[in-house]
Amino acid sequence: MDIIANIAELRKRLSAETSIAFVPTMGNLHDGHLALVALAKQHASCVVVSIFVNPLQFAANEDLASYPRTLKPDCQKLAAAGVNVVFTPTDAELYPQIQNITVRLPGIAQELCGVARPTHFEGVATVVLKLFNIVQPQVAVFGNKDFQQLFIIGQLIRQLALPIQLISGETVRETDGLAMSSRNGYLKPAERVEAPRLYRALQQVVHAAQQGRQDFPEIESQTMQFLTQLGWIVDYISIRNAMTLTIATKADRNLVVLGAARLGKTRLIDNIEFEI
Ligand code: PAJ
Repeated sequence: MDIIANIAELRKRLSAETSIAFVPTMGNLHDGHLALVALAKQHASCVVVSIFVNPLQFAANEDLASYPRTLKPDCQKLAAAGVNVVFTPTDAELYPQIQNITVRLPGIAQELCGVARPTHFEGVATVVLKLFNIVQPQVAVFGNKDFQQLFIIGQLIRQLALPIQLISGETVRETDGLAMSSRNGYLKPAERVEAPRLYRALQQVVHAAQQGRQDFPEIESQTMQFLTQLGWIVDYISIRNAMTLTIATKADRNLVVLGAARLGKTRLIDNIEFEI
């Protein structure tokens, strides 16, 4: 496995590859990331993983400084998983000058997670487009765990006619249901016990909708109240059309319920796709 931090060197290493699948990450890798790598291997002969904690997608008050950086064990996991190339640029390599050319996104980037994190998806889309230009993959693999991010990357690829096939991987969970996340490591022991409640609350929303309840706004606010009473600071619980991410109507059949809520300092997100 080649570990490369330099753009020119990476381009040279990849120049003869004709079938590249790319998995962008911010490192601190867990089984969710490794499941995406396994998926990538099914779609190309050369799998490239990037590890880069992207400053552009963190607001000033967020966890950029404390975000876990574990490059050595990450590379060991990727080598064991059969990855061909790991791209580990420094901030200066990826942003040699102030990145004031960015991708302007549609309104959906200001909804859901975009309410608490108004510049987040612009930072994500910009770095992902830049990484796509550097790696030039035929296939890109993203997780369903970050459903809104996956949706926005799909729009980016389509609207900018990028020659990339987007593949999504299912959310990998701990045995108690908590979606794996690099941020789970921030949870204090008591918070870790409480954390799977977000997924269970989303499961209850799915159950209610599948039982025939159509008062989606009421279900959402009841779920938010329930979590709030248990000590969560809830950003949103929202039932959406799974294809368009617009607010779900009674006519929609393919739905997704998304949630974001904080326990102490840790912000967790999760979602479940379902049909009625
Ligand atoms: P990161 O949070 O490291 O996630 C990298 C990829 O792993 C994303 O596509 C994410 O959806 C996926 N992922 C995270 N947890 C998962 C889980 N439990 N099961 C399955 N997949 C999971 O998302 C980012 O990094 C960044 O925003 C990035 C796209 C790299 C741009 O900086």
